[in-house]
Amino acid sequence: MVRRPIVVANWKMNKTIPEALQFAGDLRKSLKETGREGVDIVLAPPFTALKAVFDSVAGDTIDLAAQDLFWEERGAYTGEISAAMLSDIGCKYVIIGHSERRQYFGETDEGVNKKINRALYHNLTPIFCIGETLRQREEGATFKMIRGQVEKGLDGLSEGAMSSVVMAYEPVWAIGTGKTATPGQAEEVQGYIRAVLRESYGREVFDSVRILYGGSVTPENIGSLMKEPDIDGALVGGASLQVDSFVKIIKGGII
Ligand code: PGA
Repeated sequence: MVRRPIVVANWKMNKTIPEALQFAGDLRKSLKETGREGVDIVLAPPFTALKAVFDSVAGDTIDLAAQDLFWEERGAYTGEISAAMLSDIGCKYVIIGHSERRQYFGETDEGVNKKINRALYHNLTPIFCIGETLRQREEGATFKMIRGQVEKGLDGLSEGAMSSVVMAYEPVWAIGTGKTATPGQAEEVQGYIRAVLRESYGREVFDSVRILYGGSVTPENIGSLMKEPDIDGALVGGASLQVDSFVKIIKGGII
């Protein structure tokens, strides 16, 4: 099965509204010149810039992702943003379980599971992030960790619901460090993720689910990563902050 590639710009806590709009305008211009057929493009600005970016790219088939949400429907949760609020302003995707949220904000697999369920309830596509730390890799615990995160994060999800989830493998030791996993290292884990999904969901999900790689993706390494059979796109942090490098990654994502 041919899975459509997808490239996601995770801006993290970067860009004010004017900066985000500048980027969106330059990106549209650049894509008009070079073309972008064959790849899904997603921008994940901070919450404050989501609506402005949505209005700016509307009609250009560039989709929006939020970087997180809270699992409750509404209520007294100061500082939180709900799934309904995100779909309200045009988000199609939401990143869930990013390692920075697990590391700095106490996100657990159980919380991730609730967030995935709430996102799906509002027709948002979760981009579900998983990955091992350097220590876990060195201790030979990578596959065990990955299996645990997949099984707990997706606990109770039906096959139909799973077919709307995008997976993202992001080894924690590769995020923002300049140490990309080699294509072989990424493929080994991503093939494993697909195999774990097959145990619970069967052949169709196994074939169709898109699995992104994230962690120091650059215009230089995207080509060799995308050659791997189980890498269907990229979740890009640092190199997504400049239009030039992001567009080169989009081009590299078209195979
Ligand atoms: P990076 O971040 O590309 O800067 O390593 C990736 C991510 O955290 O999604």
